[in-house]
Amino acid sequence: MANASWVFTPTVPQLNKMKIFPSIAIVRSRVHPSNRISKRVSCASTVQGVEQLSPSESKPNRLVGKGCKLVGCGSAVPSFEVSNDDLSKIVDTSDEWISVRTGIRNRRVLTGKDRMTGLAVEAAQKALEMAEVDPDEVDLVLLCTSTPDDLFGSAPQIQAALGCKGNPLAFDITAACSGFVLGLVSASCYIRGGGFKNVLVIGADALSRYVDWTDRGTCILFGDAAGAVVVQACENEEDGLFGFDLHSDGEGYRHLHTGIKENEAFGTNGSVGFPPKGSSYSFIHMNGKEVFRFACRVVPQSIEIALENAGMTRSSIDWLLLHQANQRILDAVATRLEIPADRVISNLANYGNTSAASIPLALDEAVRSGKVKPGQTIATSGFGAGLTWGSAIIKWN
Ligand code: ACO
Repeated sequence: MANASWVFTPTVPQLNKMKIFPSIAIVRSRVHPSNRISKRVSCASTVQGVEQLSPSESKPNRLVGKGCKLVGCGSAVPSFEVSNDDLSKIVDTSDEWISVRTGIRNRRVLTGKDRMTGLAVEAAQKALEMAEVDPDEVDLVLLCTSTPDDLFGSAPQIQAALGCKGNPLAFDITAACSGFVLGLVSASCYIRGGGFKNVLVIGADALSRYVDWTDRGTCILFGDAAGAVVVQACENEEDGLFGFDLHSDGEGYRHLHTGIKENEAFGTNGSVGFPPKGSSYSFIHMNGKEVFRFACRVVPQSIEIALENAGMTRSSIDWLLLHQANQRILDAVATRLEIPADRVISNLANYGNTSAASIPLALDEAVRSGKVKPGQTIATSGFGAGLTWGSAIIKWN
């Protein structure tokens, strides 16, 4: 398929239904690997038929961006802090065990009436501010979360709270700790193929709500947080998403899950189970050893594939930014990829595993502290429940 090429031509009825009339030529050709992503999809569109739209729906004519870049980031964490010593008062554990086995010392937990969406809005506002993008200019909000405040999705609430006028599309992406990487890649697809200009990608989770606080095998790991980035359309030369690699393996579900509770809703003791009763989710069940092995095996492979897709080598990586699950996983992956420890971004000592929030939270801290500089290349990888995993090679700003 290396030289395959194809052109998508919408039919007339399709065109008539579309507000945006795209002329999309998706061409896979022999391109230099470093330009593969940005050249794979080249397209242009103009908005036509705006007279059929209400003023709030109308958009100015625009060219579809060929590249996409990260132009802003932000994060937010709850104020309530839980230390390893605090945990040792509720389960049989110690600061020494937790810090040696995981690298985690503290985590933040949502309390009272605070909600995940509140953190997500705060992180998104900071990212928009850094990007100098007005909420009205956002045309897509992707909320990567496995713990929405509403089963139907929380992204629209965030869109409303941010004050994005014009009703831009907002929806949730559920892929546990891989969610943010999937969100980044999805943003790039919407920009390159769909004509979107400013996409807000938020990773936010409150796993504390699903942790069994009597289970020392899991409750020591997780914390709550939100992180966000603004991904913006740009010219080819400025492109900042060089290559990616995404996977899932449903067979591995048994190693890490938070399934729906098998209660009366399903019928017990021979009952039919109708009408169904209310449902809820069980606590997080995890086979830590299996997940640990899985992460150490697939993450280096995935980063190598993403690098190859980008036409780059390990030597191009300025920073390794992994999902912040366990310091021993970060160390093992860095060793396998021969990336020195001082090139590995890690803040899990302070926040624990914050699921979809961990990568943008660590990125935001690294950018704001001046560690990650404009133009530097980051190899990022998420992994977790599903099982899911994915990597992306990105440039900061
Ligand atoms: N304190 C003290 N002792 C403990 C604790 C604790 N908190 N937890 C377990 N132990 C004990 C166990 O009972 C066991 O005792 P035993 O030998 O007497 O049976 C011993 O310590 C070793 O337990 P293991 O589970 O083998 O410990 P391990 O070294 O594997 O560390 C851990 C456990 C930290 C969970 C590790 O396996 C891990 O980090 N796994 C990966 C988790 C992960 O990355 N998840 C990412 C995805 S999360 C998502 O997607 C939502």
